[in-house]
Amino acid sequence: MGRIRDKRLPSTEKLIVRPATLRDLDILVQQRRAMWMDLGVRDPARHDTADKTYRRWAQTRMRNHQLMGWLVENRRGAIAGGGCLWLQPIQPNPKRTKTLQPYLLSMYTDPDFRRQGVASMVVGKAIEWSRNHGYGRLMLHASEMGRTVYKKSGFYRTWEMRLDLNDASTTVRLGKRQSRDRIKHA
Ligand SMILES: CC(C)(COP(=O)(O)OP(=O)(O)OC[C@H]1O[C@@H](n2cnc3c(N)ncnc32)[C@H](O)[C@@H]1OP(=O)(O)O)[C@@H](O)C(=O)NCCC(=O)NCCS
Repeated sequence: MGRIRDKRLPSTEKLIVRPATLRDLDILVQQRRAMWMDLGVRDPARHDTADKTYRRWAQTRMRNHQLMGWLVENRRGAIAGGGCLWLQPIQPNPKRTKTLQPYLLSMYTDPDFRRQGVASMVVGKAIEWSRNHGYGRLMLHASEMGRTVYKKSGFYRTWEMRLDLNDASTTVRLGKRQSRDRIKHA
C-alpha cells in the first residue's frame, strides 16, 4: 500500500488529523480501494476500474468543495487512516430547506493502526465540520467493522429501505404481483 503502510514505523507514535488536499488524491483512492478489499471485493480488475472512476468523482467534488477528506498521520508522516465527507444532493422537505447533506464515506484505517482512535478522529472532524457549517444531520452507511465506531460517536440506525432491481427474487415477486393485477383488471 505504498505510503499507507510502512512496517518500520511504530504505530504508537502520536497521531494527528489534518485536512486532505488534492495532492492527497492518490492516498484517498488507495484508502478507498483498501476499504473495499476489506469489505470483500477481491477482483483487482474491478478495483482498477473503480479506482479510476472514484478518482475522477472525488477530484471534481474536491475542486467544487463538495467533498473533503481528513488524513490521520504520525509525526513522521506515515498515513494511519482517513475518511471523506461528501455533500450529497437531497430533496427539500417541510423539515429542512437545505438541498445538501453531509455523508461520511471511504473510512479506512491501516491494520497497523487499528483500535487507536484513528477512525474516531476522522468522525470527530466530520461532526465538527458539519455542525460548524450549519448542517443538522450527518449520514453514513456502516460496514460491520465500522458499526461500533459510529455508535460510540452517537450515530443510530434508521429506517432506510432498499429494493435490489437486479435481484432475481425481486423480478419473480414483481412478476407474480403483475399477473395478479392483470387477473383483477380482466
Ligand atoms: C472500521 C475501521 C475504519 C475502524 O478504524 P479504527 O481506527 O480501528 O477505529 P477506532 O480506533 O476509532 O475505534 C473506536 C472504537 O470502535 C470500536 N471498534 C473499532 N474497530 C472495531 C472492530 N473491528 N470490532 C469491534 N469494535 C471495533 C471499538 O469500540 C473502538 O474503541 P476501543 O478500541 O477503545 O475499544 C477499520 O477497522 C477499517 O478500516 N476497517 C475496514 C474498512 C471499513 O470497514 N471501513 C468502514 C466503512 S463504513
